Amino acid sequence: MKARIYYFTGTGNSMRAARVIAQSLGEAQLVSMRSDPNKYSAKDCEIVGFVFPVYHWTMPAPAVSFVEKLDINPSAYVFAVAMPSFICGIACERLAEILASKGIRLNYGNIVNSVANYVIVYPPMPSPKLRVPKTEKKLKIIAEDISKKTERDYPRASRFIKRRRERVMTPYLELQKYADNPFTVNEDCISCGLCSKVCPCNNIVLEEGEPTFKHHCANCMACVVSCPKRAIGYEITQGDRKLLDASDSRTPLVKIMGLPKKRKLYKNPYITVNDLTKESEIWPKEVKQEK
Ligand SMILES: Cc1cc2nc3c(=O)[nH]c(=O)nc-3n(C[C@H](O)[C@H](O)[C@H](O)COP(=O)(O)O)c2cc1C
Ligand code: SF4
Ligand code: SF4
Repeated sequence: MKARIYYFTGTGNSMRAARVIAQSLGEAQLVSMRSDPNKYSAKDCEIVGFVFPVYHWTMPAPAVSFVEKLDINPSAYVFAVAMPSFICGIACERLAEILASKGIRLNYGNIVNSVANYVIVYPPMPSPKLRVPKTEKKLKIIAEDISKKTERDYPRASRFIKRRRERVMTPYLELQKYADNPFTVNEDCISCGLCSKVCPCNNIVLEEGEPTFKHHCANCMACVVSCPKRAIGYEITQGDRKLLDASDSRTPLVKIMGLPKKRKLYKNPYITVNDLTKESEIWPKEVKQEK
């Protein structure tokens, strides 16, 4: 395959971006970072892309470990598109650093501000109705750049964000291993297994029909927004000591973590729940083209 685009996604923004770029390339294979990097090596690719959300002002941990394990053709044109909502932080720098350690240069880096999807902390924002069209517009410009193999220096965090990151975000990253403790599954669950299929971290196993969370969660929100019965909740209880203690310290966001029943959920409107279950696809051959 000439072009391969690797994406990590929870709620579809990054998958949508990967598809728009693939369409302008003519043909490309899209590969989810939930897959085995050895199965989808980029050793023979001429164009290699990485598309991912931003978590806690950096690249999501599962995307980091995927790229670390991936073989990449050193003479490929390599691009990255980060999909934050407001603050990209060091996400692109982190990727560039991993690539550099493999002797690979990032030829093109860009950011697309997207709908913020962290619905266990806040409602989707800004309004998807307003933000999605803007996102689409910028994606088309980026796709055009990439199809021409444009060179573009990747965005870097300001000194202010770098200084604040240490204090504000590092504690959240330390809490990641407890991040799925508060998930609840209510009696509306029909044991359909969709939550397990969309999880990009293989973190959900159905045990006797009951979704069980295995403590390597990225908090990507895929399971929450894909459940057909809205059976998945998020509730920090007395048992979640680490999270409760953190809410009194330097991580004030933990205080407001929770999923009220009436909160709006968000999934990218161009991506279906079935799309989120995919490991790879050839675009545009296998997928019906959109107007
Ligand atoms: C755990 C988590 C942490 C996030 N942290 C940030 C962040 O630091 N900066 C930001 O701009 N957006 C942040 N977001 C928002 C996502 O980066 C954004 O909604 C992204 O487009 C989602 O992509 P996806 O639909 O491909 O999963 C965060 C979302 C989640 C779920
Ligand atoms: S997606 Fe929802 S209904 Fe289906 S198994 Fe998971 S929690 Fe249950
Ligand atoms: S358990 Fe849910 S929130 Fe956690 S990584 Fe899997 S799909 Fe995402």
